[in-house]
Amino acid sequence: MRIKKTCVYPVIIFLCLFFIFPVILLSQEPTAIKILDDKVRTYLENRRGTWRELNVPASDGKILYDLIIKNNYKKALEIGTSTGHSGIWIAWALSKTGGKLITIEIDAERYREALANFKEAGLANYIDARLADAHNLVKELQGPFDFVFCDADKEWYKNYFIDVYPKLEVGGCYTAHNVSARRGMGRQTEQFYNYLKRLSYVETAVNDSGGGISISYKRPIK
Ligand SMILES: C[S@@+](CC[C@H](N)C(=O)[O-])C[C@H]1O[C@@H](n2cnc3c(N)ncnc32)[C@H](O)[C@@H]1O
Repeated sequence: MRIKKTCVYPVIIFLCLFFIFPVILLSQEPTAIKILDDKVRTYLENRRGTWRELNVPASDGKILYDLIIKNNYKKALEIGTSTGHSGIWIAWALSKTGGKLITIEIDAERYREALANFKEAGLANYIDARLADAHNLVKELQGPFDFVFCDADKEWYKNYFIDVYPKLEVGGCYTAHNVSARRGMGRQTEQFYNYLKRLSYVETAVNDSGGGISISYKRPIK
């Protein structure tokens, strides 16, 4: 029995569209994720112990990474990029949730170094790095955000929080570095922690395992 060519072509097109192409696409996606993961992991391993510009320790970077993955956050803001160590951990998590990070640095040299580091780590596409005074830019940014990491000038922590809070989504998380439940962590951040604890509309915990990170979740309005 001879099969007509005109009958075979639609079958081939059907198979390609619904079976072969999807299988190819699905089998490539995990490969792309794995390639990026390997690149970032290798970069961070090679850079271990070399971060000198007031950067967070790797253990604190991992805390930020885990928070983003666990809550599937996508719209992140970092205040205080420095040379990008925490930004790399945040952006690495966002590369998995499909999100993006805006990060702000006032120092031009650190900003340039951060850009180079983001590129070398393979994460530049997930980061919108701004050279600016965060005192002004944080007010101007539209948001909304669902994850914030504050790690710039400590005396301004409360002002940053007040400016960002209205742009933080309910369920979103505001974290700040060098904030600890322990005493003697510095007057500025201790004041900020006491301020957070008094607020009824956020739920704050502190992770003291590294440099101290306050973790405040925005509660729904009752
Ligand atoms: C503790 S470091 C940030 C470290 C960074 N998060 C990391 O772990 O890689 C603080 C940074 O905030 C920057 N900074 C201080 N005041 C600022 C401001 N008003 N606007 C933007 N950046 C500021 C400093 O230049 C410094 O690089």
